[in-house]
Amino acid sequence: PEIIKKAGYLTETHVVTTEDGYILTLHRIPGGNGSLPVLLVHGAINDDIIWIVLGKGKALAYLLADQGYDVWLANLRGTTYSRKHISLSPSELKYWNFSFHEEGIYDVPAMVTYITNMRSQPLHAYIGHSMGTSVFYVMATERPKIAKMVKMMINFGAGAFADHMKSPLRPIFYMMKDNEPILRALFHGEIFPQNVYNILKTLMGCNLNFYQAELCVNNLLFNYLGHDPEQLNLTQLPFIASHVPIAVSLTTVVHFVQVIQSGKFRQYDYGATKNLLIYKSMEPPEYNLSSITLPMAIYYGNNDLMLDPIDVKRVYNLLPNVIDMYEVPWPNFNHVDFVFANNAPKLLYERVLKVIKGKYQSNVTTI
Ligand SMILES: *[C@@H]1O[C@H](CO)[C@@H](O)[C@H](O)[C@H]1NC(C)=O
Ligand SMILES: *[C@@H]1O[C@H](CO)[C@@H](O)[C@H](O)[C@H]1NC(C)=O
Ligand SMILES: *[C@@H]1O[C@H](CO)[C@@H](O)[C@H](O)[C@H]1NC(C)=O
Ligand SMILES: *[C@@H]1O[C@H](CO)[C@@H](O)[C@H](O)[C@H]1NC(C)=O
Repeated sequence: PEIIKKAGYLTETHVVTTEDGYILTLHRIPGGNGSLPVLLVHGAINDDIIWIVLGKGKALAYLLADQGYDVWLANLRGTTYSRKHISLSPSELKYWNFSFHEEGIYDVPAMVTYITNMRSQPLHAYIGHSMGTSVFYVMATERPKIAKMVKMMINFGAGAFADHMKSPLRPIFYMMKDNEPILRALFHGEIFPQNVYNILKTLMGCNLNFYQAELCVNNLLFNYLGHDPEQLNLTQLPFIASHVPIAVSLTTVVHFVQVIQSGKFRQYDYGATKNLLIYKSMEPPEYNLSSITLPMAIYYGNNDLMLDPIDVKRVYNLLPNVIDMYEVPWPNFNHVDFVFANNAPKLLYERVLKVIKGKYQSNVTTI
């Protein structure tokens, strides 16, 4: 909120409690009485800071506020601003027993319901980045009545399949899944707690000493998410690195690896016996993307090492109502350029703002 205020905007902090007791923070840049509410939802390993990193006149949250929208920034459970629970503490295993499934059936519905009740109108647009899209798909398939309160969705990447994921994080995630019991014992289900990240950042040269910045960026960002030095403003690095990366639950990582290995976007796999008990079938049920009928716009990057264009197109082919499907016209556009790229306003946001205004002519080209 201090950063938003410094940029010259009003800001409010709202708190919502989910049906399973997690206490979440929403940051808001309030619009006027007639304004249309929009909700921005971050992905894994970061929080709502991503929507303001680019600063006034450039960051998507500010551009939306400048155009008169009522801007709400989500913080999913377990992240910096949303680590409280009515009875559990983040130092307990039980607190971390969730994946994007629970975020989709509890966190997003709680936030959407809160905003639409307060504003007595539907949510005009939901904007998700990476796992911020996955959690919407989960809500839309598992709790369709609540998803009906959302009029359109903007996808930065489309997080359902990752068979073609090229990032070196892939073997690291596989290793985590294979060593789940050990890691769970070591880190109580939180991968990684902030103190571990701080050691990692130091080892990788991210001590925010400007001379080390390039080393840090190469080690932690470009290697894993896609090389694109031209779009990254190194001056902003200390700001980014002071908030990102943040912890994620081990269960989320394991669930994600299951999705990659099965090639199916489906619920958590407990193994045949427990699946039978929980789901009444040996295999976990799939999230039926074809049943999501609200208008969708999908944007993807050619150099996104997490969500490869091939995997994004597979989502596109299943969704029945895509009104805009667009490869951002920058060959090195990587996984975080959606929120960190210097040129994101020109390359991407201008188009997104038109779509949200309803002023963009449907232009889906056959792929
Ligand atoms: C918005 O509505 C409230 C309550 O109806 C009213 O008190 C307030 O003056 C209005 N604000 C503006 C800017 O119109
Ligand atoms: C996590 O949740 C699953 C499914 O509800 C349950 O079977 C399991 O025992 C839980 N684990 C912990 C550590 O609470
Ligand atoms: C880089 O970021 C700094 C600090 O936010 C800003 O002053 C500068 O204008 C940015 N440079 C470019 C090329 O956008
Ligand atoms: C998925 O949803 C579509 C559209 O509602 C429906 O036709 C199809 O039968 C569903 N598939 C499954 C497996 O339920």
